Amino acid sequence: MPHPYVLLSAAVSLDGYLDDTGPERLLLSGPADFDRVDEVRASVDAILVGAGTIRADNPRLLVNSPERRAARLASGRPEYPLKVTVSGSGDLDPAARFWHTGGEKVLYTSDKGAERARALGLAADVVALGPETDWRRLLEHLHDVRGVRRLMVEGGGRVHTQLLTQGLADELQLVLAPLFVGDADAPRLFGPGVYQGGRLRLVETRAVGDVVLMRYEPTAPGTGALPTAADHHWLALACELAARCPPSRTAFSVGAVVVAADGTELARGHSREGADPVVHAEEAALSKIGPADPRLAGATVYSSLEPCARRASRPVPCARLILDAGVRRVVTAWREPDTFVAGADGSAVLADGGATVVVLPEHEERAKAPSSHLTGR
Ligand SMILES: NC(=O)c1ccc[n+]([C@@H]2O[C@H](COP(=O)([O-])OP(=O)(O)OC[C@H]3O[C@@H](n4cnc5c(N)ncnc54)[C@H](OP(=O)(O)O)[C@@H]3O)[C@@H](O)[C@H]2O)c1
Repeated sequence: MPHPYVLLSAAVSLDGYLDDTGPERLLLSGPADFDRVDEVRASVDAILVGAGTIRADNPRLLVNSPERRAARLASGRPEYPLKVTVSGSGDLDPAARFWHTGGEKVLYTSDKGAERARALGLAADVVALGPETDWRRLLEHLHDVRGVRRLMVEGGGRVHTQLLTQGLADELQLVLAPLFVGDADAPRLFGPGVYQGGRLRLVETRAVGDVVLMRYEPTAPGTGALPTAADHHWLALACELAARCPPSRTAFSVGAVVVAADGTELARGHSREGADPVVHAEEAALSKIGPADPRLAGATVYSSLEPCARRASRPVPCARLILDAGVRRVVTAWREPDTFVAGADGSAVLADGGATVVVLPEHEERAKAPSSHLTGR
């Protein structure tokens, strides 16, 4: 099920704290960065904070610039983004500023929490997600019911930690502020948890006044059938590679990327790459990795089109090459049509060989575009 694009936003001190332990909220950003945050808020459909942040900071979470609000209205969006919070207990102060400023509000909570929230008379749409509050269900609800396509998450640490460790964050916008907190009891941005093993991708650094903004993208593939945000990023790259294929009237244009479990890219390839007029994308990518590479066993192959089950040009189809390489997870955007091979079912070959195949139809249109002269679409 589709999720919104999830952008985590936070500021930390040089010693890695989100706040101090005093009663007032610690201001980590300067005026220029608060204005940047205002701009990001104005660009999203919804802003989410955890119940802990409402209790600690009593935030309003508004778009402060009248010009930005006017631009939202002019483009047919509500003046303010939807404000979202999450609470297991439902125990929130009905007088908190969160409920009484800005536009619409929604509280996601458990069945028990919903009873409490309704008894308190919170001025919000209260959505009970079952006995526990599950982040995937919450994101699906925001996407499908509330129409949220971009979600900004402004903390606190417990919320950020869960979204990152569950592979649900598309991007982290981290601001480093030039001051120290120096109190071990102060809240940290990320708590203990199982994080991705390898390195995140640094996509931007920018000085904003006296703070530095760093933007990162998580890179680790998911495990099994559950897609992570990074799965979407890698599949989007495979679709980009498909667009680079030399055109053909007799074969699809496909891109492929092989990624280790820790998020390290092992190889990439595309159809008819280099001097080989019949090479397939997965074949081109796998040929660049040593067959004894131990990372293949935990790797994911991203292929813009389902790996082939049969082919005329070479004896071994890509589904078999993938299994023979030891890879047991494949993420793809669309199933092979009958254009060249009737009843091709690479996914069944992979599944029979013990691999998990994940299809992400959100990417289908981009994956098909370079082959539209073959499919008639
Ligand atoms: N520097 C920054 O950029 C920044 C930004 C935001 C916040 N902060 C700071 O962060 C601190 C607050 O962080 P925090 O970690 O204590 O709180 P938090 O992450 O804002 O909220 C935690 C609360 O959210 C609810 N929650 C979280 N995950 C849940 C789940 N899976 N299911 C149900 N409910 C869930 C729970 O509420 P219930 O307890 O009601 O069940 C939990 O206690 C404050 O000091 C604040 O100043 C700093």
